[in-house]
Amino acid sequence: MYFSFSEQNVLQKICGITMGKVKIKDIIKKKRKGKIAMLTCYDYSFARILDEAGIDIILVGDSLANVVLGMKETRSVSFKEMLNHTRAVAKATSEALVVADMPYVSYQKDPKKCVYYAKKFIEVGADAVKIEWFKDCPYVVKSLLKVGIPVMGHIGLTPQTVHLLGGYKVQGRDRKSALHLVNEAKALESLGVFSIVLECIPYQLAQLITRQLKIPTIGIGAGRYCDGQVLVLYDLIGLYKEIRPKFVRMYKDVYREVKNAAVKFKKDVRGNKFPSLKESFSMKK
Ligand code: KIV
Repeated sequence: MYFSFSEQNVLQKICGITMGKVKIKDIIKKKRKGKIAMLTCYDYSFARILDEAGIDIILVGDSLANVVLGMKETRSVSFKEMLNHTRAVAKATSEALVVADMPYVSYQKDPKKCVYYAKKFIEVGADAVKIEWFKDCPYVVKSLLKVGIPVMGHIGLTPQTVHLLGGYKVQGRDRKSALHLVNEAKALESLGVFSIVLECIPYQLAQLITRQLKIPTIGIGAGRYCDGQVLVLYDLIGLYKEIRPKFVRMYKDVYREVKNAAVKFKKDVRGNKFPSLKESFSMKK
């Protein structure tokens, strides 16, 4: 049975009925029917909003490094930082599938330690982890699946190893590099990942990969033929203004709204208009 978002809300409020936690098998089913909506998120308050909005997958992305912590590279984010933010997001999420992005230090630096770190993400509430393609990717995927941790792959523009890709640019534009990406996608599927993020590749290549796989693809800068789409939340709401890639659609300008609110607050404080009596406590008579 299908319930609209407002019907879901009514059901939740009146009867305490929720639509239930999104499971890996629900995500895989969307390959045949429906599209996957995934957003990044890094904190409790935003996670509540995304969960209520019915977003299928909340990714605690290592883009945390850039948009929250002000770092230049995603590979600079620490395991502890990612773990703390994953815990906060998981606390607020009752329906969406929570995927923790494994930071560079937790699997690329020493692939043998990947299980230790991935287990910690699961302990704080993640349902799965995401890893970017790199030379020891097959070893890492096998090790994680062996202990029962679901894995999402990530190919194309993989920011953790961007220095090996010639910088932040579209990948797979020529035949040779396109074939590499097709092979990586097939390898990940045969290893057992449940979905693959395709980042910054031509839409024709994303379509080809999507058609060749039985598991869903989730695109970011990979055109409309993927089985789902992901965006960085702070791009979607216009909070992060430093880089604005062509593939981003800004649905709200929260940056401007927050700035306007801060300016109004400043004026009210300086003009002694805040707080009012209503916003103050009074003594007992
Ligand atoms: O960390 C991130 O934001 C990501 C998305 C780009 C998929 O990995």
